[in-house]
Amino acid sequence: MQINNNCEIYNGDCIEVMQEIIDKGVKVDLTVTSPPYDNLRSYENKVTWDFEKFKDVANKLYEITADGGVVIWVVNDQVRNGSETGTSFKQALYFMEIGFRLHDTMIFQKANYIPLTHNRYEQSFEYMFCFSKGKPKTFNPIMIPCKNAGKVESYGNERRSLLDKKQAMRAPEGKTFMKTKDTKYHPNIFTYTLGGQKTGHPAVFPDKLAEDQIVTWTNEGDLVFDPFMGSGTTGKMSIINNRRFIGIELVKGYFEISKKKN
Ligand SMILES: C[S@@+](CC[C@H](N)C(=O)[O-])C[C@H]1O[C@@H](n2cnc3c(N)ncnc32)[C@H](O)[C@@H]1O
Repeated sequence: MQINNNCEIYNGDCIEVMQEIIDKGVKVDLTVTSPPYDNLRSYENKVTWDFEKFKDVANKLYEITADGGVVIWVVNDQVRNGSETGTSFKQALYFMEIGFRLHDTMIFQKANYIPLTHNRYEQSFEYMFCFSKGKPKTFNPIMIPCKNAGKVESYGNERRSLLDKKQAMRAPEGKTFMKTKDTKYHPNIFTYTLGGQKTGHPAVFPDKLAEDQIVTWTNEGDLVFDPFMGSGTTGKMSIINNRRFIGIELVKGYFEISKKKN
């Protein structure tokens, strides 16, 4: 369904719909998505999800991704018989096996994680794997202020004379005089507060999570994709940031929610 010139969304199985998109010769610059996590949620009992299905999705993602394109895969494990399944790791290794680079293992940290009663520390993060098809063609890093902006970090010999005796004693030989810069790259742990969105979908990720990844790995006009669209968060933030968007959602009820959001 064409929402407008910049946004197409489909109600169907992502494996089938991705094949149709691939057959049309479309390539996407960025995927920001979150698949089902093991069998943690039933999604209205309409979803079957296992490693074989995952492999089909991963292979189609490789085909549909442009050279230099990126896939952001937000995922976590179920705990079964007292052990985390390790599915997230297995998936990451499979992505690498089929040709993606594991460009960065980022973390989506939840500022307001839900306290549960169990014998391990509270689960407060999810993996946010960044896979790339070759070298990422776009990187617009989010910058944050340096705490020590303007302070001298190390002293070259030419500056020794400018320092008092005590400082000069501590200054290492042959080092260049450097001031701490005003800003630096955001760390690869991204912290967001959950909630506040009444969407009718059980597993929505934060708008800001999608936005941060979209502005980092694409430029205006680029094509962003989400094969597990859910309530349509990636689509909404793509359009707000002047990117084009294609999304797929299997469950009709969630597709209807995403239609309103996009
Ligand atoms: C973790 S949720 C995604 C939530 C989304 N990121 C958001 O912010 O709303 C995963 C979604 O994938 C959908 N899904 C599961 N299997 C699918 C498939 N084979 N094709 C398309 N969508 C599927 C589920 O119905 C569910 O809405």
